[in-house]
Amino acid sequence: MKTQPGWALPNLHEAQKRTQKEVTIEKSLFQIPSEVRTLGQGKKYYLRTYGCQANERDSETLAGILEELMFTPVEHPEQADLILLNTCAIRKNAEDKVLGEIGSLKRLKRSNPDLIFGLCGCMAQEEDVVQVLLEKYRHVNLIFGTHNLHRLPELLYEVMVGHKRSVEVLSKEGDVIENLPVRRFGKHKAWVNIMYGCDKFCTYCIVPYTRGKERSRAMADVLQEIRQLKQDGYKEITLLGQNVNSYGKDLHIEGGFAKLLEETAKIGIERIRFTTSHPWDFSDEMIDVIARYDNIMPFIHLPVQSGDDEILKIMGRRYTNAQYLTLFHKIKERMPECAISTDIIVGFPNESEGQFQHTLDLVKECQFDNAFTFIYSPREGTPAARMADSVSLEVKQRRLAELNACWNQYAHVKNEAYLGKVVKVLVDGASKKKANVWSGYTETNKLVNFTGEHVTAGDIVKVKITACKTFSLDGEQIL
Ligand code: SAH
Ligand code: SF4
Ligand code: F3S
Repeated sequence: MKTQPGWALPNLHEAQKRTQKEVTIEKSLFQIPSEVRTLGQGKKYYLRTYGCQANERDSETLAGILEELMFTPVEHPEQADLILLNTCAIRKNAEDKVLGEIGSLKRLKRSNPDLIFGLCGCMAQEEDVVQVLLEKYRHVNLIFGTHNLHRLPELLYEVMVGHKRSVEVLSKEGDVIENLPVRRFGKHKAWVNIMYGCDKFCTYCIVPYTRGKERSRAMADVLQEIRQLKQDGYKEITLLGQNVNSYGKDLHIEGGFAKLLEETAKIGIERIRFTTSHPWDFSDEMIDVIARYDNIMPFIHLPVQSGDDEILKIMGRRYTNAQYLTLFHKIKERMPECAISTDIIVGFPNESEGQFQHTLDLVKECQFDNAFTFIYSPREGTPAARMADSVSLEVKQRRLAELNACWNQYAHVKNEAYLGKVVKVLVDGASKKKANVWSGYTETNKLVNFTGEHVTAGDIVKVKITACKTFSLDGEQIL
């Protein structure tokens, strides 16, 4: 592969390094050079987001930057002068979807040779993916990673004015960059980053390599953003991090996440959510704060991954089946109404039938409200990807189906408990299919479709539940 001078390519070896270096918080890094300020005048951009909420929130920053450069958004790639795909690398099928999309959008470059085709996000942090893009997808002329969103103006300038292919992916650990522009996609619900990166290094997971070292935002910056959101009329915020429980450890913030949650609750925004919590460092103080404040929602996403101790150990999850169950029941004892969801991986290398059975047993005991279940996908560069695997894809698929049938059954039972009850729903919007039908979420994160008059998106309304399904509830508004 020929590389151009000035290109910065991802380097897996570098990405694996972690140092004790203090986190740098940069407040002045984002500046738009004067020659770039009108770069997007008369030009349209199309932005598509894959993956988790971290990417959703990054896309809001990308949109904010592009709109400061005077680009305007469009709904269809056919209308765009700039196509940007913000990608996810968590499993192979996530990547295949993106590569397929890049291939199918190539036709647009034929009819519009000036089209800028950009790829960013977690796939851009992967060495092998960038090699493939550079060699086989020559119509992609802009590639940048998760650590340098703030460099988008300069990189675009290189492509648009310098007529160069621009590639800049940093493999260093990453700083915290404040004061980036943002265009929020929602009017009533907002994402708030509280930390970036992940240092847990679960052996199957690519995120510590694509998102860099775990680093927290200063508490004052997070709280200021939330105060502003409240002033702007937002009803719900979700505090985001790969593992929110370890918030503040790097900055030696006393009280850590429990303290941040409490300070957030005191601001008085109606609904506070957070994701994701790793079971390993879920403190008693956190449970206490969640239970004490009505505006911290009684819903916790608590990924277990497996119910088998040996598999959990090889995964590097740092807890046992018994420790997970102890935490689960502690939460339920203090907050019986609290809904709990989870993530589970089946078919981790060499998982035996007996080990899979331990996962089913755990699901039967916990009766989760919701679960996200996956077949293990080997990720280049992670320790698990180097393990030999004796389990066939057929067996993995059968286990996934069995697991899904199992948790679905309990999710339905959980929903049945809502029949006849009155719940508070934050309205997302009107149904596209039926008049006077609205949808939104309960405090426990259940999707509700309900009939009602005089309803507006963003309202919190009372709804009586009249029917239940596995993945949603039906109801009618109570005045
Ligand atoms: N930080 C979160 C997880 C983020 S990734 C946490 O630890 O809870 C979301 C989910 O994707 C994980 O919980 C896991 O279930 C799944 N996942 C991650 N890597 C995977 C892989 N290589 N194959 C299959 N599923 C994976
Ligand atoms: Fe991945 Fe584990 Fe970090 Fe979650 S905690 S992002 S699963 S390494
Ligand atoms: Fe995907 Fe990156 Fe999120 S790999 S799940 S977009 S952190």
